[in-house]
Amino acid sequence: MHTRKIGQVTVSAIGLGGMPMSIEGRPDEARSIRTVHAALDAGVTLIDTADAYHLHAGETGHNERLIAKALASYGGDTSEVLVATKGGHLRPGDGSWTVDGSPEHLREAAEASLKALGVDAIGLYQLHRPDPKVPYAESVGALKELLEAGKIRMAGISNASIDQIDIACHVLGEGNLASVQNQFSPAFRSSEVELRHCARLGLAFLPWSPLGGIGRAGRLGSRHTAFQEVAEAHGVSPQRVTLAWLLAQAPVVIPIPGASRPESIIDSAQASNLALSSAELARLGRG
Ligand SMILES: NC(=O)c1ccc[n+]([C@@H]2O[C@H](COP(=O)([O-])OP(=O)(O)OC[C@H]3O[C@@H](n4cnc5c(N)ncnc54)[C@H](OP(=O)(O)O)[C@@H]3O)[C@@H](O)[C@H]2O)c1
Repeated sequence: MHTRKIGQVTVSAIGLGGMPMSIEGRPDEARSIRTVHAALDAGVTLIDTADAYHLHAGETGHNERLIAKALASYGGDTSEVLVATKGGHLRPGDGSWTVDGSPEHLREAAEASLKALGVDAIGLYQLHRPDPKVPYAESVGALKELLEAGKIRMAGISNASIDQIDIACHVLGEGNLASVQNQFSPAFRSSEVELRHCARLGLAFLPWSPLGGIGRAGRLGSRHTAFQEVAEAHGVSPQRVTLAWLLAQAPVVIPIPGASRPESIIDSAQASNLALSSAELARLGRG
């Protein structure tokens, strides 16, 4: 597994997205734990989660507790694993997603995430989504306080525009914004401007739903024929080609494909070793 950097921390070039193991359609806990263990066996050292990755009301932190349990029950060394979580999104339990980016909420949410993860400090804490009712600088200011208090080791943002990335850099101070997590996949490329901005600034860029999202990822090859054809030429899955194509966009890119089955993350992790030619990359870039 090749590695990349988030701030000063070295992580696997492919991470694991935890969301499919805790929201609608989630598997039983035993399969989820096997999935996380398969990721670790494959050399994955970045796991993305969020307090809001749950289904029912009253089970905030479901995915964080699951990841913590899987790490604790793993037979090998997990000391190099970076768990990245998020705050600022909520799930009331009726299927909807709401936001609260107030500093009060983010402070409480970070405390709850510390408990759910069972750690003294969160490796990477990301503001999940801007809250239109709260000035962005105030939400990011809460992350700065958490950094200064030692409750989080690194700060990141998600679903951010270029202006918001610049605000976060300014509020957090020189070198203190570690990562940006935006949607980016063959079907959704409009975050390319933020990706290029991160590449210029040297900020890790974590594409979310890199395979098109839960429920659509399996049909990626039939929806994007260029990816299917390149996959056939290499004798690999179109999902693996997609992740290799994302890695080739810039050295700051670290995809976090979700998985709820060991087979998925085992296949995805191998994208780190798939080299695509410049002709193939040009073709995939067009569609
Ligand atoms: N910041 C945000 O607002 C935000 C929003 C959405 C997601 N995220 C994060 O981004 C992560 C990834 O996004 P996502 O989970 O929504 O979508 P995704 O990664 O595009 O797709 C996930 C699905 O892809 C399937 N899959 C993974 N690798 C595969 C492979 N090699 N071959 C075939 N199928 C494969 C998995 O199937 P199985 O379930 O069958 O294993 C999984 O359900 C999330 O888990 C979450 O951590 C963040």
